Amino acid sequence: MKIYIGMSADLLHHGHLNIIEEARKLGGEIIIGLLTDKAISSYKRLPFMTWKERKKIIENIKGISKVIAQETLDYTDNLKKIKPDFVLHGDDWKEGRQSLVRQNVIDILSAWGGKLIEIPYTKGISSTYLNNVLKEVGTTPEIRLGRLRRLIKNKKIVKFLEAHNGLSSLVVENFYIEQNNHRIEFDGIWISSLTQSAAKAKPDTGYLDTTTRIEGLQDILDVTTKPIIFDADNGRHIEHFVFTVKTLERLGISAVIIEDKIGLKKNSLFGIEVKQEQDTKEMFALKINAGKKAQVTQNFMIIARIESLILEQGIDDAILRATTYIDAGADGIMIHSRKNTFDEVEKFARRYNKLNNRKPLVVVPSSFSVVREEELINAGVNIVIYANHLLRASYPAMVNVAKSILENERALEADKFCMPIKEIIELIPGSK
Ligand code: SPV
Ligand code: MG
Repeated sequence: MKIYIGMSADLLHHGHLNIIEEARKLGGEIIIGLLTDKAISSYKRLPFMTWKERKKIIENIKGISKVIAQETLDYTDNLKKIKPDFVLHGDDWKEGRQSLVRQNVIDILSAWGGKLIEIPYTKGISSTYLNNVLKEVGTTPEIRLGRLRRLIKNKKIVKFLEAHNGLSSLVVENFYIEQNNHRIEFDGIWISSLTQSAAKAKPDTGYLDTTTRIEGLQDILDVTTKPIIFDADNGRHIEHFVFTVKTLERLGISAVIIEDKIGLKKNSLFGIEVKQEQDTKEMFALKINAGKKAQVTQNFMIIARIESLILEQGIDDAILRATTYIDAGADGIMIHSRKNTFDEVEKFARRYNKLNNRKPLVVVPSSFSVVREEELINAGVNIVIYANHLLRASYPAMVNVAKSILENERALEADKFCMPIKEIIELIPGSK
């Protein structure tokens, strides 16, 4: 007799063990269909543990005969292969996102007389609660660093949002929406040179040195667990860049992006309105290569940012540079543009996708904000970075409140624009 149980087993608790115990009582061969990272991240966050780590735990539980991969939330493939006599599941999936999956299981089992047995849901456990506890425990630099590569491998598109201090990073870390029974949230945090500078009312000209930028990062590391990509401008001199790589790795940053420009740094979105000079591809390749040699961990990524479209050098030049940078060891390419449509970047992406040794592609749709994630996915983009939005949102909100207080000569009218004092206090971890 064969018994099949599908599970994620990331935050394993006695509710899972109750189900396995019931399966043991039936007395057959117990096969666990362990959901892959891809299957899980199709409807909620990437699991804390990798598939292999989860497998190791579950296969050591008493009575488990075999652990196999369940590649989708849907059970069809595995059930047809195994033809189990019983499928066991908690009775908490009758409503919500899993109800269709459940009906499908019942229908498929009926073909060979198999039965679904539903075990009363164990009260008093909430995976949201366990999730929060784990967030409080925090993460390690190594786990955080490795998460970006796992996300790229398992998600259609990986979404990063900018944070410029501890408070804004709490939004990226904690905020989510529920849509069509899916939990949707940002996957990681972008440390932008523009917004880290602007938050200090400094220009985005490289005035903030790397040490100062990294000090600012500490506040974000304190209160978040999601992966981080660091904008290192052009990486400065090679001798500086190799230091930056090691420091970022030590902190558990997943990736650094460096741009192929030289001279006094100007924000790319100025384009050719200001004097900006592109590095030669040969010199920039040397910098990438030196960074890769300096790297200590396996998973850290050096992403090369191509400024050819910003500087109106054309797509041919951008493609040539992409090839050169990948040959030099780049783990990814960011293509930037200041056009207000996606056309230019899309054209680049279509050609880029044909490269033999193509690496993950990153885009920053600040000027072409019309583009939808669906279009990015279709064009093969792997990471989208919303590079400055939280900072740009905060200034008008502050101006609004300042205006209200001046106009009304008191603060009462401004209260409606502000969160309650109690809420801001409670928002900060460790306040109570
Ligand atoms: C940043 O966010 O600092 C960037 C992206 O480098 S951009 O401002 O668009 O150049
Ligand atoms: Mg920048």
